[in-house]
Amino acid sequence: MLYLLDTANVKEIKRLCNIYPIDGVTTNPTLVSKEKMDFRQLFTQLKEILGPDKMIHVQTLGKSAEDIVKEGEILNKFLGENLYVKIPVSPYGIKAIQILSQKGIKTTATAVFTPQQALIAARAGADFVAPYVNRLDNIIGDGVEVVSEIIKEFNIYNLKTKVVAASFKNLEQIHKASQVGTHAVTVPPELFEKLLEHPLTDSAIRKFEKDWEEVYGKGKIVSDLI
Ligand code: E4P
Repeated sequence: MLYLLDTANVKEIKRLCNIYPIDGVTTNPTLVSKEKMDFRQLFTQLKEILGPDKMIHVQTLGKSAEDIVKEGEILNKFLGENLYVKIPVSPYGIKAIQILSQKGIKTTATAVFTPQQALIAARAGADFVAPYVNRLDNIIGDGVEVVSEIIKEFNIYNLKTKVVAASFKNLEQIHKASQVGTHAVTVPPELFEKLLEHPLTDSAIRKFEKDWEEVYGKGKIVSDLI
């Protein structure tokens, strides 16, 4: 499963990419606006941090297929190979996905709430679809069930489109999405770090250190003793 960070915050992306096996970032207009930075400067910095191997998903704002295609082409020139043009699944969005995918530009269909939206986006040539788990749970839907149905559908029809489950607000949603075989999750930084936390891990580490220090001394590590 791929791990993406659902943020446009340069500091957090830099810090977390330095520690964890992160496969890229997803942004949307809300996340980008939060940073209050010059757009070009923000994405130049992100491009540099993410390097040649990590994905960057950037959302378009156009209200026609022509405008979205224009945005996609300009983003593609600017960000290159690892760009996924994120496009909401409106009728003109679907048209733009078809045009961009025919031009060899990668796309992520976003704001997906039903398996049929995902299927149409996949047929249009989207590389990823992004179902919004928490926003479905918020309206007494079942976000993870939708993720699961999309994956089943893609398998039945042998589609190569991948699922990046999005809009997470708690660890249970992420855990369940991974249990149903999502190809990727995109997670806000504060939630991502919680995935690793456990009080029993902390106390196990403390006990190992205490037992070790009693015999080998404080601050000594294995390489000091060989
Ligand atoms: C990511 O691709 C989505 O834009 C994002 O996860 C939506 O998250 P939200 O529901 O917390 O805004």
